[in-house]
Amino acid sequence: MHDLPSNVICLPQTNQLEALLTIIRDKNTNRGDFIFYSNRIIRLLVEEGLNHLPVVEKAIVTPTSTKYEGVGFKGKICGVSIMRAGESMEQGLRDCCRSVRIGKILIQRDEETALPKLYYSKLPPDIDDRYVLLLDPMLATGGSAIKAIEVLLSHGVKENKILFLNLVAAPEGIEAVTKKYTELKIVTASVDKGLNDKKYIIPGLGDFGDRYFTLP
Ligand code: URA
Repeated sequence: MHDLPSNVICLPQTNQLEALLTIIRDKNTNRGDFIFYSNRIIRLLVEEGLNHLPVVEKAIVTPTSTKYEGVGFKGKICGVSIMRAGESMEQGLRDCCRSVRIGKILIQRDEETALPKLYYSKLPPDIDDRYVLLLDPMLATGGSAIKAIEVLLSHGVKENKILFLNLVAAPEGIEAVTKKYTELKIVTASVDKGLNDKKYIIPGLGDFGDRYFTLP
């Protein structure tokens, strides 16, 4: 296990999670199963992410006419998916948060500079007043994540109100993001060994977007 910065939360490596990860890592897993088991991990990530949102005391009365001193979420949230692979995580967020607003960011490598470039963004107008669950299943070099975070900050989102959720992270990506941003939180299901020369995560699971959206 890697030593992780304090703003990185790795889900508990239970047998169940390990079994789910094993299925989606397997190159012989078909698309239907890949989607089903990825969705289960996404659900775990969203639930863990929600644990890191602040709550305030909230008193209610139960049907037994008894007062109950509980809590309620303090602020408003929204999701922002990094297209295309991040869109796979939108339904998991909707399943946990009814009528959640979800924005989108498209970042691609600029052909000339080879640097990540923003091509499109559509964000909730009041995003500066919200906690943002940033969605991207694979944190590889961190290039697009850093660009997406820059976009959020430029729209007035506070860094400490960003939760970046991903299924598999490379140490290189974690280092790049956390060196630049110390106040946001990363929630991941697995920290893998590293990147290969094509910048794929090793052992990883291949191209997440292709396996979720296109491959047979
Ligand atoms: N994106 C992917 O889909 N897979 C990787 O391994 C790295 C980035």
